[in-house]
Amino acid sequence: MIIILMGPPGAGKGTQATRLTKEYGIPQLATGDMLREAVNNGSEIGKKAKVIMDRGDLVDDETILEIVEDRIKNSDCEQGFILDGFPRTVNQAEMLDKLLEMNKLSLNTVVSLEVNDEEIVKRQAGRLWAPTSGRTYHVMFNPPKQAGKCDESGEELVQRDDDKEDVVRHRLTVFTEQTTPVKAFYAESDRLQKVDGMQAINDVYEGIKTCIKA
Ligand code: AP5
Repeated sequence: MIIILMGPPGAGKGTQATRLTKEYGIPQLATGDMLREAVNNGSEIGKKAKVIMDRGDLVDDETILEIVEDRIKNSDCEQGFILDGFPRTVNQAEMLDKLLEMNKLSLNTVVSLEVNDEEIVKRQAGRLWAPTSGRTYHVMFNPPKQAGKCDESGEELVQRDDDKEDVVRHRLTVFTEQTTPVKAFYAESDRLQKVDGMQAINDVYEGIKTCIKA
């Protein structure tokens, strides 16, 4: 089972992928989380990526494909995986099709979460993130059980460097320019399904599950 979750920054991809992982027993491959891990490890990829991510721009396609290609070789991906935040350019989508074909794999579901810009800005402003577990919370819409602490790891929750309003707005522009054409790429080949991401978290989840079954 290979699922792609698309949507603008803050649409809820990570929130929903965490739930899908639990229910379907397949891992979440979030390119943003992988890059943040590289930043925390101080690797060469991480050092280059940090500057780009803090600006809200996209990391180059070759670096991203290398990370994804490497990750899907892991044994935990044998039953499938959820791609969260990848592909983000038409070039990445084409490279993914080739990569899957080479590995005799195919996509099951491509879901686009549809959320408007003002809601995105509101969500990002209240987002809290656990750097080790990768879990995401929101001060109002999805609070942790204990204020400021991750439910899973107990670690201190932080705000992401790219969640400042001016960076969020730039990320939205980048999404419109570079990722909206990816939706058209999947729609043209009849692979795109849309879910109203403005609904409550549980309702969005039910919408995604309907797409997976369809
Ligand atoms: P990445 O980490 O992928 O960020 P993003 O796509 O911008 O998405 P976010 O993680 O910000 O949001 P999300 O959709 O997961 O929403 P969440 O569930 O957290 O990428 C970061 C950077 O890495 C990029 O800018 C780029 O530089 C680089 N990068 C990554 N992948 C790349 C690629 N493929 N190519 C090139 N560069 C790449 O939810 C947001 C908030 O809303 C949370 O607080 C949550 O609790 C709340 N929330 C969620 N759903 C709801 C709901 N239904 N109602 C109310 N609140 C909700």
